[in-house]
Parts: sequence; structure tokens; C-alpha cells
Amino acid sequence: MSELNNKFSMHTKTCGELRKENIGEEVVLTGWVWHNRDHGGLIFVDLRDRDGYTQVVIDPDCVTPEEFAIAEHLGREWVIKIEGKVRARQEGAENPDMATGQIEVLANGLQVLNKSLTPPFSIEDGIETDETTRMKWRYLDLRRPEMYQALALRHTVAQAMRSALNEHGFLEIETPILANSTPEGARDYIVPSRPNPGTFYALPQSPQQFKQMLMIGGVERYYQIARCFRDEDLRADRQPEFTQVDIEMSFVEGEDVMNLMEEVLAEALKAVGVEHEFPLQRMQYREAMDRFGCDRPDTRFGMELVDITDIVKDSGFKVFSSVAQSGGIVKAINAKGAGDWSRGEIEKLASIAEANGAKGMAWIAFTSDGKEKSPIIKFFSDEEFAGIKEALDVEPGDLVLFAADTYEVANAVLAALRLHMAEALDIPREGHALLWVVNFPMFHYDEDEGKYSAEHHPFTHVLEEDLDKIESDPLACGSYSYDLVMDGFEVGGGTIRIHDAEEQKRILKVCGLTDEEIEEKFGHLIHALELGAPPHGGIALGLDRLVMLLADKQSIRDVIAFPKTSSASDPMTGAPNQGGNCSPAQGSGSSYPVIIVQEGPWRAFLNVTDKKD
Ligand code: AMO
Ligand code: AMP
Repeated sequence: MSELNNKFSMHTKTCGELRKENIGEEVVLTGWVWHNRDHGGLIFVDLRDRDGYTQVVIDPDCVTPEEFAIAEHLGREWVIKIEGKVRARQEGAENPDMATGQIEVLANGLQVLNKSLTPPFSIEDGIETDETTRMKWRYLDLRRPEMYQALALRHTVAQAMRSALNEHGFLEIETPILANSTPEGARDYIVPSRPNPGTFYALPQSPQQFKQMLMIGGVERYYQIARCFRDEDLRADRQPEFTQVDIEMSFVEGEDVMNLMEEVLAEALKAVGVEHEFPLQRMQYREAMDRFGCDRPDTRFGMELVDITDIVKDSGFKVFSSVAQSGGIVKAINAKGAGDWSRGEIEKLASIAEANGAKGMAWIAFTSDGKEKSPIIKFFSDEEFAGIKEALDVEPGDLVLFAADTYEVANAVLAALRLHMAEALDIPREGHALLWVVNFPMFHYDEDEGKYSAEHHPFTHVLEEDLDKIESDPLACGSYSYDLVMDGFEVGGGTIRIHDAEEQKRILKVCGLTDEEIEEKFGHLIHALELGAPPHGGIALGLDRLVMLLADKQSIRDVIAFPKTSSASDPMTGAPNQGGNCSPAQGSGSSYPVIIVQEGPWRAFLNVTDKKD
């Protein structure tokens, strides 16, 4: 941790700083009372600040009687300032687990800077306090060293990336927060415009359109540590506002962006003492789906998906043969070490399969004493059974789980089971595994909406060889796209952009927009592309997720100073609430805006009814 510059401070040292070498020095410390113990006339105070803990001894012979009286009644979290002399701890009283465990400070002055009520929870690492309570008193939670360390780690990562980007000639440029809607796949947060009643800004889901405009504006290398806003269902790795390290470059190809990102990442990892080999693997999207069933594979362990369609296509087990013969796929994983699980334990896994779309979950257990257990073996010929065993490299002690369905469903089912089994079997997943997953399909078909949608976003350049298939076979079109995957999380994503206005219009049309809608929503972009847009591309790295993984946390909330709960609220400030300082001009005399929404995309977002009062 960088040293505090004490020139600007009431104290001369921090609570984490003193060592044996400081013995004999006169120091001034400030901080919070963590523990306060009376040891037969001597009072021991563990004083805490952002840097650590120091043991302070208050001896009635060294302070005034008034000061000693104060020391006797110090409460938890009181803020105090002490002056004193550093001395060695008595033999046997050293604490090797504490950075300052060799010394203590004998106080010769004590001042209370502020008192504290009894805190609602204990302020120390490893507490199991309910998270909403921690968030309600976030400032107390932040006093815990592990929280401070997470923020410090985040700072170090961000600064290392900034400086690497600066060195490569990037400019840090801010883009608007009061913006218009862009299609990143979530709902927008909206803000009413007072001078333009009935109209709204959208908070940006990402700076995507602005960074492209910067390229068209000739900036060539842009970055921003940018706040993004997305109204979507929250999970441990999703917040309604989050931070991207957002990058855009002109006159580049995908490899250039990935190589640049790797250099930036290498600097960030170095800054926090994490080792990883570079260059990173580039895995084709299709390979990721085939082998791991998902586009963000955790490659720190095996248990890969195996396609056994050919082996079972004519089998007597109709569930498999009928799927195989109707164009589906039969895949399986081998969970080594679960072969002795009970039938009941295995059957419980079916609920995970079903939650991911499966109609059932067939299985074969190979017990460690060489027996086989399964409701389905009887349906297979010897040859088929031997084929399955060989394909899955079966040994005693293994459990094979099957999914027979469409390619997509079988992958989703086994990807979920693979992760579940890794967790259940405690398969070691130490260290970090980073890789690129590249060349995503350009489109997927959105069953709910009944139309094609861009897999990344609709500004992505279609692979040159697929340009002629955009209209005739959208699902066959690949794209110049790359996701950065770490330990099973998508920590970044980017693409080479369309810089040709015609291609842009074609993509938007396939996504179901009419010419009028294209003009209305994307006219500004199309016209910019017509006015000398350079080839360009970029990436956005999810800073919260990256730091979460580096800090070994389970949720991005633990690396964000003031996060929101899973229902997107802030228990500390009470946001969102009905307050606000909106002009009455917008409403009908109340201080809140009355939102009157005419036809247009906002109606759906707002769930508007025609009632206008
Ligand atoms: P994308 O939508 O993939 O790309 O976002 C980039 C990265 O941002 C992180 N991320 C999130 N982190 C926390 N909470 C969220 N709700 C959340 N949503 C996304 C992920 C993700 O990989 N404009 C494009 C980038 C580009 O093409 O350059 C974009 O936003 O780690
Ligand atoms: P059934 O013939 O429906 O009794 O199924 C026999 C076994 O196959 C059960 O263990 C089911 O869970 C399983 N099963 C059914 N459908 C599928 C499927 N689509 N993929 C994998 N296993 C399945």
C-alpha cells in the first residue's frame, strides 16, 4: 500500500506502519478504537485506521489523570488521537500475525476527536453480518480492512490500466450521461427533460455510440473508465450501474485490440502481483460451445462435454435415438468422483438439468468397486455401451450425465451440471484462467420477440466471407467479435465495428427495423458513417468483475464502494425514493414530474397506461 503523506495530516504515522526500526520514536496516531482492555491498571487500546492496527498502552504514570479517566471509558469506534513513544512489546507478547505485532506505543497524550454510538455490527474482517445491514451502514462496513483492501486493489488495477493506455497514446475522454437509448440488451434508466416536456434522456448502457463517434471524429485512440447503467435482473456479477474500462481504436483489426488489451491487462495483473501467461488463447465460439457448452468457459478444470450422438443414434433407448434422428444432439459429461453417489443424490441433479430446459437427465454411475448403476444401461447394446465408456474415458468411481436435446439446450444443461459438479466435488480451481472467445455468431433468433437480434450489438462487423448471407441466412453469419473470459466469467467484450453505412442498414433491417425506424433511432450514426468513418473497433472490460475475481470475492458488491441490493436499491440513502427536486413546471403543482408518455419506445419501458393524472 502506498504511504500516506503525513504532511497533510494530524498524525505522523499510520496504524499499520510502525515496525521494530521505529522503536524509540515519538509518534502521533489517529484512528478508531477497535478493542479496549483494562489489564490491571494498564489500558490496552487496539487502534485501527485504513492501514492497519497498532496496540497502544495507556499507563496512568505517563498520562494526566484526566486522560487516564477518558481512556478507561473509551467505547468501540470512538475516534481518538494519541501521542506516544514506540517501544518493543514485552517478550511473549509479540503477535506474529499482526504487521505491527512487534511493537506498541506507550501513550503520553490522548484526545477524543469524536465519540460513537455502539455500532450495529462488529467492524472486523470475516463477519457474517447480513449484507443488507452492512449496506445500510456502508460507511461502517468500509472501515473493515478487507473492504478497504478491495477498494485499494480496484484503484491499483484501474490506475495500472490508465497508465498503460496513456503510454500507448490513448486519450481519456468523458462522454454524456444524459444520452439517448442504445441497444445493449437491457432496459434503460430514463431521466425526464424539463425544457422538453414528455421527452427523456436514457442513461447510457455503455458509451458505445459516442466512442464510435470519437473515432469518426478522428480521435483514433480513446479510453474512459465509464459508468454504465442497465436495468436488468441483478445477480452477483451484475449491478444496475457498473464500470467499464472502455476502449476504442481506429485503423485496427480484432487482433490489434486483443493484443493491446493483453498488454493493459498484463500491467494490471503485475500491479497486483498476479501471474498469468500471455499471449492468451483464442478459442473459437463454436469450440467453446462444443467443449464447455457455454461462451464463457471456466477452463481451470476439465469435465468437458462429449458428443455421443453417433454412438447412440440407433440405440434402443428411444430418448436418445429419436433426438439423434430428428437433428438433435446427445452429449454427456463425466463427473469423476461421483460414481458412488446414491440414486437419490444423483436424481436430485435432474432439477438443475430441468431448470436449464432439459426434459430429463439420464445417468450411469460406475461405482468404485467396479459395478454399474443406471436406469438406462439395459437399452444399450454391448457395442454402444463400450462406445459410451470409451468416449467418456470411464473408470470406476465415475458418474456420467447425459443431455439429449437441441444443440443449445444440451449445451446449457451440461454447462450448468459441469459447474455444479465441480463445486459439489470440490474440484480444485486455483489461480486464474484467462482466454479469448472469438468469432461469435452475428445474430441469434429471439423466440420471445420473434425476430433476429444481434448477439453482441448491431454495430458489429460481419465476417467478410459471410457478408453476402446477411439477409439470406442470418444465423450462418459470423462476426468480428471477442469476449475476454476469466474463471468462467465474461470480464470483457468487444468487436470490430461496421464502418460502412450500407452494411449498418442491412444489419438493422435484419434485426427487424424499418427504414423509418432506422432513420429515427440510428440516423445520426448512419450519416456519420457516410462521412468518412475509419475502420475501427474496441472493447469494454467489466472492471467490477475483474476486480471481484482478483480480490477473490463472490460478488461485485464487495468491490464497489456503494453498491445496490438485488432489488436495485440502496439501503443507506433509501434510493430510489419519491423525493427529488424536479420543477413543478413539469408536473401539475407537485414537486415531482408527471410523466406523460406519447407513443414511442418509452411507453413499453415505463409500462405506461393512458391515464395521465
Ligand atoms: P458488454 O455489454 O459486453 O459490451 O459489456 C462489457 C462488459 O461489461 C461487464 N458488464 C457488467 N458488469 C456488471 N454489471 C452489469 N450489469 C454488467 N453488464 C456488463 C461485463 C461485460 O463483458 N459497448 C460494448 C463493448 C464494445 O463492444 O466495445 C459493451 O458494453 O464484464
Ligand atoms: P424416460 O424414458 O422418460 O423414463 O427416461 C429415462 C431416463 O432418461 C430418465 O433418467 C430421464 O431423466 C432421462 N431423460 C429423459 N429425457 C431426457 C433427455 N432429453 N436427455 C437426457 N436424459 C433424458
